[in-house]
Amino acid sequence: NLFEEAARLIKQSRKTIVLTGAGISTESGIPDFRSPGTGLWENLDPMEVLSTRVLYNFPEEFYKVGFKILSSMRNAEPNEAHYILSEMEKEGIIFGVITQNIDNLHQKAGSKNVFEVHGNTREGSCLHCGKKVSFEVLEEKVNKKQIPPRCDDCNGILRPDVVLFGDPMPYAFDLAIKEVKSSDLLIVIGSSLAVSPVNFLPDIVRHLIIINATETPYDYKADVVIREKASYALRNIW
Ligand code: OAD
Ligand code: ZN
Repeated sequence: NLFEEAARLIKQSRKTIVLTGAGISTESGIPDFRSPGTGLWENLDPMEVLSTRVLYNFPEEFYKVGFKILSSMRNAEPNEAHYILSEMEKEGIIFGVITQNIDNLHQKAGSKNVFEVHGNTREGSCLHCGKKVSFEVLEEKVNKKQIPPRCDDCNGILRPDVVLFGDPMPYAFDLAIKEVKSSDLLIVIGSSLAVSPVNFLPDIVRHLIIINATETPYDYKADVVIREKASYALRNIW
């Protein structure tokens, strides 16, 4: 069966790396972006909500809509899929996890080698002087109706350190590319693979497993495609 086939590929692989997307966290209660009916982008346009254009030109708007989405992810807890990946890393079965998610759930589950290619919701920084602040500082200021929140040092506007549409990719992405190039198996879990440049990673690896509830544009390239929930699929492979 497909689970055995996936397990065999993983066993045979010298170095395996995982790429996750929002679909691994839906079982933790965080909505993904593109699932029909429940995805965040059903009712919102990412270019209008989580973009540098809106942050720079309409910062109040950014903080009223986009920031709320980011903030709401912070209380979630990892699910079985996150825990199995952490265990696989501990046992040396996978090298680590490249994630498009900003929910911190891989780290919460104990994963150590995590490449956050879309940033995180632990920190923020000043658009003017670059000073780093914790995400809590942003939240406190927003709760006190200081919208947009401003830097205590220079009064510049503060931003969360997540990658917005219009932002360059962070250094973690260069590191991730390097790790994928030196791997012989990539396991994609819970990503529609609709967003560039992350979705070129499946192109630069020899073997590919895709675990996703729905079809992706890379299914034709994969050695194994498992169209199941992430936790169920990983439990069976494990
Ligand atoms: P998407 O919402 O595009 O894709 C999530 C995929 O996970 C969908 O194809 C679902 O079918 C699938 N899925 C949902 N629940 C699942 C489950 N329990 N098990 C398995 N699969 C499941 O999310 P991403 O691919 O992560 O970028 O989106 C990529 C980027 O687009 C995000 O990082 C974000 C967004 O705009 C930025 O904000 C920069
Ligand atoms: Zn500043």
